[in-house]
Amino acid sequence: MKVAPSLLSCDFSKMGEEVIRIDKAGADWIHLDVMDGHFVPNITIGPATVKAVRPYTRLPFDVHLMIDYPLDYIDAFADAGADIITFHLEAMSDPYMTIKKIKERGIKAGVVIKPATPAEEVFPFLDSVYMVLVMTVEPGFGGQSFMADMMPKVTAIKAEAAKRGLDIPIEVDGGISDKTVAAAAAAGVDIVVSGTGVFKADDPAEAIKILKGAY
Ligand code: DX5
Ligand code: ZN
Repeated sequence: MKVAPSLLSCDFSKMGEEVIRIDKAGADWIHLDVMDGHFVPNITIGPATVKAVRPYTRLPFDVHLMIDYPLDYIDAFADAGADIITFHLEAMSDPYMTIKKIKERGIKAGVVIKPATPAEEVFPFLDSVYMVLVMTVEPGFGGQSFMADMMPKVTAIKAEAAKRGLDIPIEVDGGISDKTVAAAAAAGVDIVVSGTGVFKADDPAEAIKILKGAY
């Protein structure tokens, strides 16, 4: 299992140091939550912040766009140093054009679905994406409870990909902890995002180790 700690739960007043801390603790990727106050009812960071923390680690930046019109912002996040960009299928941009644009910039593209969106919605994009992110909370805030009832969506997407001879990593985001990671692992999840579970832990290295050990 790969672990992508979400900076949403870090100390925003010293984000660079927080990135170093979580890199040293054994993170695989850094997950950056971008919210526009429109697609979700919260506002977080934009490209300037992504760019500002980029020099603090060599780990891949997994940028999760919770914004409307994601296509309009791909260049900005590419310039800021994103390695993976995921955007919501519920957002107001053409998904094919958005995937194309991300790939043109040499970045790995992923699609994300909210809890109410069925697994089948991602099927048309399986041949062109690097990854699929299945939300296990309603996007917008950290610290919510894991929705175990999303796991059948993970198995359905895995099965459809396998049917097409594809091996697409599945990421889940929201409510991941030592108590919930087993359910994700059992469903075949490859990457877990964890905000509070890692950043608010007494020992983030130990928290990451436990999550990594789940498979
Ligand atoms: C929620 C964000 C998540 C959030 C997860 O909209 O996409 O990445 O930071 O936080 P926890 O792990 O606390 O649920
Ligand atoms: Zn996220």
